[in-house]
Amino acid sequence: MPTITQTPDGHVFDCEEGDTILRAALRAGIGMPYSCNTGSCGNCRFQLLDGEVTHLRDDAPAWSERELKRGRWLGCQAVPNGDCSVKFRAMDQYVPYNRPESFEAELTGIEKITHDISQFMFQADAVPFFRPGQYALLHVPGVTGARAYSMSNLGAGGTWQFMIKQMPSGAATGQLFESELGAKITIDGPYGTAFLREDSPRDIVLLAGGSGLSPIVSIAKGVAKAGMLGTRKLHVFYGGRDVSDLCDATVLGAEAAGAARFVAALSEPDATWTGPKGYLHDVVFEDMGAALKDCEIYFAGPAIMSAAVQKMTHEAGVPQDQLHFDEFY
Ligand SMILES: Cc1cc2nc3c(=O)[nH]c(=O)nc-3n(C[C@H](O)[C@H](O)[C@H](O)COP(=O)(O)OP(=O)(O)OC[C@H]3O[C@@H](n4cnc5c(N)ncnc54)[C@H](O)[C@@H]3O)c2cc1C
Ligand code: FES
Repeated sequence: MPTITQTPDGHVFDCEEGDTILRAALRAGIGMPYSCNTGSCGNCRFQLLDGEVTHLRDDAPAWSERELKRGRWLGCQAVPNGDCSVKFRAMDQYVPYNRPESFEAELTGIEKITHDISQFMFQADAVPFFRPGQYALLHVPGVTGARAYSMSNLGAGGTWQFMIKQMPSGAATGQLFESELGAKITIDGPYGTAFLREDSPRDIVLLAGGSGLSPIVSIAKGVAKAGMLGTRKLHVFYGGRDVSDLCDATVLGAEAAGAARFVAALSEPDATWTGPKGYLHDVVFEDMGAALKDCEIYFAGPAIMSAAVQKMTHEAGVPQDQLHFDEFY
């Protein structure tokens, strides 16, 4: 098994055959920076000082020939061919509370949420606990490369649920939406740092765009379970394109649904729609305005929505450490 020696913090860790340097570091409890885990964001970049690695994906969007010439690789894609020395700065905020593990799970249910989003329920034996808002990597049989999906439930009893949007011609979603109950899949997790901060006393704003619904539902359930609703307001904003994308507050679970203010907004509604119209970031700013800067804000959705929400919250004066998000690539 390859041994990885890290500079400048002096960590030394083992990497199982076929595992990536990022995942091996996290499994060893080391805070290697990352976000997407699928080669798209570039946050896991490291310098290879000695040894050889191979990338899982040749076409990783966050990597180029230029990076190769500089000896820089992506931690989430780089599989060591033997012992290696690497340079990256380990950071406390990436140290996993629950170290990720890879395990087999069985598909036990599929429930339709909107016209193109369904909730997939998997059951596994002893597996790590996850926090509301985290995600896992699903190795879908017959699909090259793992895909990231955020859990929509609370981590207990080996049940892992995911709200997944069917993508036109999508490799993984195409397979998943055709799966039979009883199908076996490998799940690797938990990952992600955009989880619920139970110790924050601030009111909570949750923003979900399309497939971003999954972690937002998990966080809303977590807020209720942690008893946070007695002292904090919960505002949930959900954005879709037209009425076929709509869901209502019941997806949040009875307790959170009863206490939350749930606002659905559509960007391209028909003439019968009387609710808020426009892109989610604009609707949220118009609705919450200056109050946003006193809230803990969690959001999830496509990269384009993420960029717009980050800009809007910056302009609204929200401190960066009150923003928690994963970009969906
Ligand atoms: C942190 C995170 C959380 C996410 N959570 C959710 C969620 O809760 N619900 C949801 O519906 N979607 C979520 N997504 C998006 C999801 O991971 C997929 O991108 C989406 O389902 C499309 O996958 P597809 O295979 O059907 O589509 P395709 O068009 O076949 O694949 C597109 C995606 O797969 C990636 N990809 C392509 N080849 C490879 C490879 N060899 N290895 C790894 N990745 C590859 C692409 O970069 C792109 O992101 C999340 C993404 C991220 C990064
Ligand atoms: S590119 Fe590796 S974590 Fe995003």
